[in-house]
Amino acid sequence: MADTKKDLLTLFDFSSDEILEIIKLSKKLKNKRGSSEPKVFSNRTGVLIFEKPSLRTRLTFETALNELGGHAVNLDSHTIGMGKRESVEDVARNLDRIVHLVVARTYKHQTIEQLARYCSIPVINALSDMFHPCQALAFALSIYERLSFEDKLNIVFIGDGNNVCNSLMAVCAKLGHHFTVISPRGYEPDVSIQKIAAEVSKHTGGSITVTNDLSPAVNSSNVIYTDVWASMGQEEEQEKRKVDFKDYQVNMDLISKAPEDVLVTHCLPAHRGEEITSEVLDSKHSMAFDEAENRLHVQKATIVHLFS
Ligand code: CP
Ligand code: NVA
Repeated sequence: MADTKKDLLTLFDFSSDEILEIIKLSKKLKNKRGSSEPKVFSNRTGVLIFEKPSLRTRLTFETALNELGGHAVNLDSHTIGMGKRESVEDVARNLDRIVHLVVARTYKHQTIEQLARYCSIPVINALSDMFHPCQALAFALSIYERLSFEDKLNIVFIGDGNNVCNSLMAVCAKLGHHFTVISPRGYEPDVSIQKIAAEVSKHTGGSITVTNDLSPAVNSSNVIYTDVWASMGQEEEQEKRKVDFKDYQVNMDLISKAPEDVLVTHCLPAHRGEEITSEVLDSKHSMAFDEAENRLHVQKATIVHLFS
């Protein structure tokens, strides 16, 4: 491993070239899955710590670590009492002595930052309240499997401007795409993150737009993305959010306003009939389940990148 360890906390920490390299490597690893894969994690152990539920992230990371020659240990955050039984710093100091990689899903982004600060081994963000970088990488691989690396695309996110939206904003800024967020008033992404993304976009030829208005961006969109209205940890706001977001559903009526070949996707789990209808999620436009599979390939490529 390199002398200075690298983490994946947010894609803003990666250069555009690094991101493209990971995407291209993901595609190669996907093509040769099951044969001649680099065993970069051989004799190594990764620990998976989750403060919130997960299907895809846990499964794809565990599979990725196995396929790269190592293995995974799952730790339930309640069992280890991160920040309660023991401080986050001390948990980090222990992990650092025993395993080779930390993959963590936390409520506060600050918890992941603390783990990274007190570990000399790489730490990967498996979703925090601010970012979900692995999802954005899987998204990028999924679009590049269908559309050219050269094109500047119009990517529209409809919904809550939080973790998934922020990471899509980061990847679109880094790769020079035009990213529009359409959120109900009060659910726009954090202004400080918008500013960072806009600054990056200046250098890559992309753009960042945030609006409450559904129509114009949808008309010229190449891809429409959506996410649940109430994220994990916001369950008590579910009913209020159903009212606030009701006009922002991705349904066939909305899709009919977009170009005929528009792609639609979702990080999953989907709340069918809320932020997206089954008619759209199961339609020819949808790449959501391909994106779910691509989590495996981009995470393998990320681990290869961090351990090469
Ligand atoms: N998209 C995603 O991160 O899924 P899980 O919450 O199931 O891991
Ligand atoms: N915004 C969602 C994403 C789930 C993958 C959440 O945080 O629950």
